[in-house]
Amino acid sequence: MSVDKVLRMGVAGCGRMGQIHINNMLEMRFVSVTAVCSVIKAELDWAIKTIDGVVTFENFDDFIASDRFDAVLIVTPNIFHRDQVIAAMHHRKHVFCEKPIAPDAKSAWDVYYESLKFPDLKVCCGFPRRYVTPYVEAAKKIRNGDIGKVTTLRSQTTDLRMESDYFVDYIKTSGGIFVDCCIHDIDACLYLLGEDKTPATAFSTGTTNAWPVFQQFRDVDDGMGLVTFETGDVIMNVYGSRNNPHGHHTMTEVIGTKGRILINGQPRLIALDISDEKGTRMEAPDTQMTAFGYAFKLEMEAFRDWILYDKEANFNLKDAAKAVSIGAALMDSLDKLNLAKVNIY
Ligand SMILES: NC(=O)c1ccc[n+]([C@@H]2O[C@H](COP(=O)([O-])OP(=O)(O)OC[C@H]3O[C@@H](n4cnc5c(N)ncnc54)[C@H](O)[C@@H]3O)[C@@H](O)[C@H]2O)c1
Repeated sequence: MSVDKVLRMGVAGCGRMGQIHINNMLEMRFVSVTAVCSVIKAELDWAIKTIDGVVTFENFDDFIASDRFDAVLIVTPNIFHRDQVIAAMHHRKHVFCEKPIAPDAKSAWDVYYESLKFPDLKVCCGFPRRYVTPYVEAAKKIRNGDIGKVTTLRSQTTDLRMESDYFVDYIKTSGGIFVDCCIHDIDACLYLLGEDKTPATAFSTGTTNAWPVFQQFRDVDDGMGLVTFETGDVIMNVYGSRNNPHGHHTMTEVIGTKGRILINGQPRLIALDISDEKGTRMEAPDTQMTAFGYAFKLEMEAFRDWILYDKEANFNLKDAAKAVSIGAALMDSLDKLNLAKVNIY
């Protein structure tokens, strides 16, 4: 499929994340948002008010069959991702799908294998850390051999504690801490590892000190997971928390035979320290958007350039499928309190 110099984007889903992506794309050169699909009328009204000349759809099947766009951004609830990404490929659209690529391991691999049938299409799952500057620079150093052979990766996402009914409702259908939250850590570790290794086993445990109600959803508010690979030479450790008092703190450490790289060791909002009679302290970001919202724009620009100019991008759909397999196995281990096999389909 050929595209004009300007990438015509259709957006399926126009909620919390969809509107962030649309606002980013409206600021970008060589991208035009030409169609939006949502099942919520107020969101379509927002799209009409916000985007010049946009066409709106309430039905995904009608939307994806439209010839008004060449690439689609899928930013709908996770349960729709598998079928919508596959339908988009069959309609000859390039695809950027929000994480996770699918809600369960089998569906994630369905998407990956289907994508192999469309080598002329660019299909990816967005993980913004692949475009966060310190992560990109760390990956370069690791590829360059600066820390030797990677033996251990540990990564965390700790989110600011949020007191609201909305948050509890969100957790209920989120898929669990390792699939919803730590999937970013799992993908970041796979990105930094940079090798196509097959995950083998997963063990996890967690607590509900802050949110006992999460037990009803078979979830935890603090969770720790350990993953091994078939080659037996790398350990992955992920930690997620919904209960961070001081803000959002994403941190990743990679240990190699010759050294170590620590990414975002402190939750620093900006390069500014405040000193007074209590000592010296820094300000922490409240959410990942404050910490590295710019990466959401960079990943979309990378998607554009991948399609328009065939420029190499950091996306990896196989890693996206592996990340779901690992996240699902960690949830399985949490539920059964045993070592789980990571299912690769
Ligand atoms: N990368 C990140 O850090 C990050 C952060 C937040 C959310 N997300 C992902 O973004 C996606 C959307 O999350 P959200 O918080 O914006 O959800 P949301 O509930 O705010 O929005 C969902 C949108 O999907 C639309 N929708 C629902 N069913 C549909 C259907 N069948 N066909 C077409 N549209 C349909 C709704 O109308 C709505 O516009 C999820 O996959 C989530 O995991 C990613």
